Amino acid sequence: MSQEYTIAVLPGDGIGPEVIAEAIKVMRVVETRLGLKLNLNEQPVGGAGYEASGKPLPDDTLKAAKSADAVLLGAVGGPKWEAIDFSLRPERALLGLRSELGLFANLRPAKVFRALTEASSLKPEVVEGLDVLVVRELTGGIYFGEPRGVETLPDGERRGINTLVYTESEIVRIAEVAFDVALKRNKKVCSVDKANVLEATGLWREVVTDLHKKKYSAVELSHMYVDNAAMQLVRNPKQFDVIVTTNMFGDILSDEASMLTGSIGMLPSASLGGKTAMYEPIHGSAPDIAGQDMANPLATILSVGMMFKYSLDREDVNTVLENVVESILDAGYRTKDIMSKGMKEVGCKAMGDLVVQAL
Ligand code: NAI
Ligand code: MG
Repeated sequence: MSQEYTIAVLPGDGIGPEVIAEAIKVMRVVETRLGLKLNLNEQPVGGAGYEASGKPLPDDTLKAAKSADAVLLGAVGGPKWEAIDFSLRPERALLGLRSELGLFANLRPAKVFRALTEASSLKPEVVEGLDVLVVRELTGGIYFGEPRGVETLPDGERRGINTLVYTESEIVRIAEVAFDVALKRNKKVCSVDKANVLEATGLWREVVTDLHKKKYSAVELSHMYVDNAAMQLVRNPKQFDVIVTTNMFGDILSDEASMLTGSIGMLPSASLGGKTAMYEPIHGSAPDIAGQDMANPLATILSVGMMFKYSLDREDVNTVLENVVESILDAGYRTKDIMSKGMKEVGCKAMGDLVVQAL
């Protein structure tokens, strides 16, 4: 009997449905070639969810996500829903999915494809061959800590409060993800904190160090303060393999790292931690180019690769997809976002077709 998987497919808004359509074409080819059965359960999310049911994360969508082997998401949001109440905004669906699925680890690879070395804002020799993975803690830290809010003091002055909190177990589980992933890569982890100023991240450093001693001596561990890490990422990014860090530092450093590659339309991501993991391109719904067959579908197609690697135990599919993308870029095909002189410009659908043909 062939292996059977259920994937919750959540296209979302803007270019979401366009890039997801290309990812589905690719999944269908992989399915046939590997003799698998993929049940794709498509559900609305974000603005589309709000239109369908009055909620950005409809009950049926959440149910489909929870019962799936993996979730593939396009992107959510757009000008149409900017005026509605914060609690009903499309972007809330992302927070809802992360917390409901228990996705505490966000993996964002920043990889420079050979043919796109010139697209980086850094010198080609600094980024050539770059392959960094940022592992960001996603459900703790200052974004979730209590107390929080804005209060009015007796003298009438207002005070804003957020609190940085980490428990030992929260640190251990994210560090384990980073070490485990590093074992499958170049076996180097850099843990980023601000242990010289923030006690919570002093604990972070201590717990990561202990865990490394106990379980992961095969990995080379280093520590770096976040301000230095931000600097090192632009000075000499190739010194890093895996970076593991807190929610807020990871938010900032993963954006910084991804931009070293010069192409938001190329970068996939995975959110792990619960029974079901979620995969999505790092970009948003790009309302400025939606509906024009201009979006780059490669970030979503590479997210499918990550899904096969981390959720469906087929790392080989990820490798093949990365190689296929590399060969298409080498052959000179570009969507508009990565277009440069002398290259062949193609639309979203044509780029998807190129991947299908190469497969
Ligand atoms: P964005 O990522 O949607 O777009 C930024 C710029 O990059 C735009 O010029 C866009 O055309 C371009 N771009 C993005 N993805 C592209 C692709 N695949 N191919 C070619 N060009 C691409 O970010 P922006 O404009 O700040 O946000 C637009 C909407 O998306 C907002 O409603 C925002 O809240 C939402 N958003 C959703 C995210 C998600 O679903 N995970 C993440 C970030 C933003
Ligand atoms: Mg961010």
